[in-house]
Amino acid sequence: MADLATLLADCAATVDKTMDLLLPQPDDAEARLFEAMRYSCQAGGKRLRPFLVMQCAALFRVDKRCAARVAAAVEFMHTYSLIHDDLPAMDNSDTRRGRPSCHKQFDEATAILAGDALQALAFEILSAPETHADPNVRIELVKELSQAAGGHGMCGGQMIDLLAEQQEAEMNIGAITRLQRLKTGEMFAFSSVAGAVLGKGSYRSYMALHNFAQEFGLAFQISDDLLDAEGDPEKTGKPVGQDAAAGKATFVSILGAERARAQAHLLIEQAVHALDVFDEAADPLREAARFVVDRTN
Ligand code: IPE
Ligand code: IPE
Ligand code: MG
Ligand code: MG
Ligand code: MG
Repeated sequence: MADLATLLADCAATVDKTMDLLLPQPDDAEARLFEAMRYSCQAGGKRLRPFLVMQCAALFRVDKRCAARVAAAVEFMHTYSLIHDDLPAMDNSDTRRGRPSCHKQFDEATAILAGDALQALAFEILSAPETHADPNVRIELVKELSQAAGGHGMCGGQMIDLLAEQQEAEMNIGAITRLQRLKTGEMFAFSSVAGAVLGKGSYRSYMALHNFAQEFGLAFQISDDLLDAEGDPEKTGKPVGQDAAAGKATFVSILGAERARAQAHLLIEQAVHALDVFDEAADPLREAARFVVDRTN
């Protein structure tokens, strides 16, 4: 297989092209909203969730154009979550992906609307016949993404994340694990199982990808928390030290950096193990898992 950096770059190029086509800049009265949506989407980002979509879909020989549409939908949803996460009412972060965050570049109302519209766009894409000829597959994708992003998924996790800031008592490991699984893990889980849904894979392969992504997502969030504690803002493109300043509950705040790092490595071993049902076609996923804990951005 080509090295991971090349695979990630190739995937980002494909998905960026698809995103650009799916989010054209209109010239009518609401043009400013699209400018804000495009501003945040085009600021870069690792495109890791699209990478999972494309790689997992390839395991089932899904048409690349269909997979790229699902990858774009996931990235639109993820970008919405970042725009809202940065708002003053949430993490109050002034930079994102190496640029002023959306509400800094535009204004809060525009940022809220840009997030809302990106979320709606994600579902519009999944429901379109170009994404899959079988309407049952499209319905399944819509259902799975709404669950991953909703009240018992990403939004639920974001709620607990904010509530935990205000709590006097420290969260325990069980509670923090659940928080992170919802906040981050569910979107990674969708990104991985979408390939099996698109390719009508077996339940066994669906569950293997689901289990892989759960561990992967948790390790990813631990490394995000480590980067907040000790990363370089030039590389991450976002502020550092904000979690501790806000009193956020993270694996790092509970376990300390060293044990949190060890935990992330353990989770990645488990994630890789979950892929045992696949042959070397899943090697890029195994490599991506190892990258996640050693990354600097
Ligand atoms: C940041 O996600 C938000 C979390 C869920 C931790 P990423 O680190 O994937 O952000 P981008 O897409 O690369 O900017
Ligand atoms: C945000 O987690 C996760 C979502 C956007 C759902 P963080 O608040 O830790 O993400 P960063 O560090 O701002 O990217
Ligand atoms: Mg946050
Ligand atoms: Mg944040
Ligand atoms: Mg963070």
